[in-house]
Parts: sequence; structure tokens; C-alpha cells
Amino acid sequence: MKITSSSFVKSSSKSKDCPDQKFNEYAFIGRSNVGKSSLINSLTNSKKLAKISGTPGKTLLINHFIINKKWFLVDLPGYGFARKSKKEKRIIEEIITDYFLNRNNINLTFVLIDIRLKPQKIDLEFMLWLNQNNIQFKIIFTKADKLNKKEFIENPDKYLEILFNEIGIHPEHFISSSKSKLGREEILNSISSQIDSKRV
Ligand code: GTP
Ligand code: MG
Repeated sequence: MKITSSSFVKSSSKSKDCPDQKFNEYAFIGRSNVGKSSLINSLTNSKKLAKISGTPGKTLLINHFIINKKWFLVDLPGYGFARKSKKEKRIIEEIITDYFLNRNNINLTFVLIDIRLKPQKIDLEFMLWLNQNNIQFKIIFTKADKLNKKEFIENPDKYLEILFNEIGIHPEHFISSSKSKLGREEILNSISSQIDSKRV
């Protein structure tokens, strides 16, 4: 799919403040610092559409971007950043839960996982929660450029095996790097194949 236009629409802290639901949307979620905003910039061929920082916890609101005047791409706050207070973590959890349970135009959710790490409890718990709430998702393994060849081949399969053993699901997955743009076309194709389809 060719990206012909992309622009920021608004930031919201509640699903009811999000833009009108006339377009389908594609949500990007994952732990703080996993690379959500970087991936959004890579997908849209932009350097600063979504804000990126070396400091985890940069994205604290639900950010909507309109793509090709036809669909929304959504950058969600990262969960599980250790250095945030309990209260801040609870607020972020509430934003995410409210978004997924009340937004009716989500066509697909991408859960981003840092390909370098072993499965983290917080990610497994989040994917279990999505599954229990019948929210369909695909996995994007991020930061593939940081791996050596052996890890690149082994890590995703090891991860998916543990995910299957723990939750009993085997979601479709992509391997990506915002630096090298690996996986970009596949992710965009996966979106374009669903764009005009019925919401799931
Ligand atoms: P929050 O907004 O805090 O939840 O983080 P985020 O998930 O949006 O991560 P962000 O895109 O801000 O990236 C976090 C850090 O990882 C930044 O320093 C990025 O430059 C770096 N990063 C993101 N993606 C990649 C990648 O594919 N390769 C490499 N090498 N670094 C990456
Ligand atoms: Mg971000």
C-alpha cells in the first residue's frame, strides 16, 4: 500500500474524546519504549509524525493519525514502564482498557514486542486480556536490527512457542525494524487487505 498522506488528528485521554468513528482504525500498543512511535513514523515515511524520545513513557495519550484520508493509525501509551508511580501506571492502564472496550471502529490491533527479550509477564498478561475480550491482534517483533543472525532466526519462534504454551494462541506475526524498514511492506499490506473489510 502506498502512503499518500498522513497527519496528526488529535490526542485523547478517553475513548469518548477520540475522533468520530467514521473510519476504521489500526491500533499500535506495547510496553513503553518498545518502538511504537518509531514504527508509526517508519510506516508513514515520516521523521516526526509520532513523537519519539530516548526517555520511556513519551506517549501518554491516545494519538490518532489520519492516513490516506481513509483510515486511522493509533499510537497508544506504553504500558509497564517501571519508573512510573503506581498512580501513573493505573491511569495509563485505565486509558488503554477504556480505549479497547469502548472504541467500536478498531479493525485490527498490533501488539509490539521487543524481539531481544524473553517473554515478559506484563506482555503475556496483556495479550491474555485481549484474547479474553475477543480483541483480535497480530504481533510485531521490533528492533530486529539489534539482533545477530542466530537470535534473529531463533527468538521469534521461541517467543511464539511460549505464548502458545501460556495462552494457547498463535497469532500472525511480523518482524520489523524501524531503522532498516524491515517488515514495513508486510505490515502495510496486512492493513490494506483489511481496510475496506468489515470490522472484526
Ligand atoms: P513510549 O512512547 O515511551 O511508550 O515508547 P515507544 O514504544 O513509542 O518507543 P519509541 O518509538 O519512542 O522508541 C523508543 C526508543 O527505541 C527510541 O530511542 C528509538 O530510537 C528506539 N527504537 C525504536 N525502534 C527501533 C528500531 O527498530 N531499531 C532500533 N535500533 N532502535 C529503535
Ligand atoms: Mg511512543
